[in-house]
Amino acid sequence: MNFDRVAKIYTILEKVVFGNQLQWARTCQLDKIRDRERILLIGEGRGRLFTELLKTNTGAIITLVESSETMLSEIKNSISSNNLSNHTFINLSFEDFKSFHKFDAVCTCFFWDCFEIKKIKSGLRKMHKMIESDAVWLNSDFAINPQTSGFYTFLHKAIIRFLYHFFKVNCEIEASNIQDILQLGEDSGFRLQSRRWHPTLPISSEFFVSK
Ligand SMILES: C[S@@+](CC[C@H](N)C(=O)[O-])C[C@H]1O[C@@H](n2cnc3c(N)ncnc32)[C@H](O)[C@@H]1O
Repeated sequence: MNFDRVAKIYTILEKVVFGNQLQWARTCQLDKIRDRERILLIGEGRGRLFTELLKTNTGAIITLVESSETMLSEIKNSISSNNLSNHTFINLSFEDFKSFHKFDAVCTCFFWDCFEIKKIKSGLRKMHKMIESDAVWLNSDFAINPQTSGFYTFLHKAIIRFLYHFFKVNCEIEASNIQDILQLGEDSGFRLQSRRWHPTLPISSEFFVSK
């Protein structure tokens, strides 16, 4: 998997296709982690959540683990260096990342839906080992709302099929389908506290606590 190729145009692409709605998913439950001080961001891409956290969690120490060097450079180039000094940027795959301390919050945005189920399971188990017992996990992903009507379900599946095709061709993502992140989260030591669905798009935001 390699997002270097799309890193420079990623935000423009996102805005052309989805407007500001992915950002809605990233931030709609951000108030729930406002008191968190040691935050891990995995696969943070262009840093749109990181930029918000710099405003909301001013005292937090944030670690970003991102496998694309270009994505990380884009973040560093877009934020004033004064705002970056407390934070750690790690250009590694999450699979290879080791931490000497634990985190009290972890955030993943449109990350787990890039992987096949086996990788998600091992990744979530690893993530759970890296957090404090009272830690929380904020996630956003593409997902099909079981409560939407027939036409919307058809449309949402078509959007998701298009996205997987696009990212497979351009970034060689591993996954071809969305997995049930709720069940996988529950199986890996997390309990869902709240889920918010976008009213018209196949996007959701989940807030989990550690069990
Ligand atoms: C679909 S993009 C999502 C980016 C961003 N979180 C967002 O909300 O737009 C997935 C991101 O995960 C990164 N990534 C892919 N595999 C990774 C891995 N194994 N470890 C860390 N980052 C990874 C990619 O480089 C890319 O930036």
